[in-house]
Amino acid sequence: MLRREFLKRFINWSFGILGLGMLASSIHLYPKEVKEMQTRYFPAINSDDAPRKGVKKTTLTYTDNSGENEARIFLAVLPEGLTAFSAVCSHLGCLVDWDRGKELFLCPCHGGKYDIAGNVAGGPPPESLTRLPVEIREGKVFVGVTV
Ligand code: FES
Repeated sequence: MLRREFLKRFINWSFGILGLGMLASSIHLYPKEVKEMQTRYFPAINSDDAPRKGVKKTTLTYTDNSGENEARIFLAVLPEGLTAFSAVCSHLGCLVDWDRGKELFLCPCHGGKYDIAGNVAGGPPPESLTRLPVEIREGKVFVGVTV
């Protein structure tokens, strides 16, 4: 084997081993909490109290590693069924509210607007409102949260 060929193979193997080492350490160092995040469902309201049309604001109480938390959410009746949204504006995180007259979610901070499906309808928000999964069972509306 020529010296040049040997050096070429040595360098290729070295980079390969280095890459495997970096991959192994990144898997090992990946935060345990992130690895174990999952969607868990928490009861939001009784299904009898769910909106039949339009939008209803409610508070979802859920628990995660930090303890008990509350989040403002909206339940909206869309053509595809009951849908839940986080009230957190995608711009800078203020809480939006539903304006029944304008039929828009309005953000008080910078004038962000979202339609009933959570799509951006005006202002600076870069993305739609976050949709949350919904399950109706046991007479309750359960809303999924990633915890
Ligand atoms: S935080 Fe909602 S528009 Fe800026």
